[in-house]
Amino acid sequence: MDIVSILVMNGPNLSRLGKREPEIYGSRTLDDINREIAEAFPGLTFEFFQSEEEGELLEKLFHCEDQGGFSGVILNAGALTHYSIALRDAISAISIPVIEVHLSNIYAREEFRRISVISEVCAGVISGFGPDSYHLGVRGIMGMLESK
Ligand code: DQA
Repeated sequence: MDIVSILVMNGPNLSRLGKREPEIYGSRTLDDINREIAEAFPGLTFEFFQSEEEGELLEKLFHCEDQGGFSGVILNAGALTHYSIALRDAISAISIPVIEVHLSNIYAREEFRRISVISEVCAGVISGFGPDSYHLGVRGIMGMLESK
């Protein structure tokens, strides 16, 4: 198999992990989470990207699509999950498979979080396993590549 490159992309407020509502999101920072992903899969190549801005997330997806070489995207879109049709359209517009991940179980929280406008256009959804959600997403992409 060629070198597998995965984009791990986080949306608004995920830069605050570690400080932000630790009872929900845990005590690890985003840097901790990203480092642990890279350590858990030493044979893979990762690019990590976070932005508070919807447009920057879209541009990053298009950039990866145009650049080529990416096998998948692990995306925690934060609150954009629940309302961003622009993000949904961007995911639809690219051919790289996107796995939606959440630290918390969005189906066990407030009603507005139970709706994801991006799930339908994602290759898979993982929610509620804390930082392991990202690891499970990576496993999902590897499984998809193996079954091709
Ligand atoms: C989240 C869940 C979202 O509802 C929330 O807006 C976030 C984080 C999660 O990882 O559990 O910012 O995506």
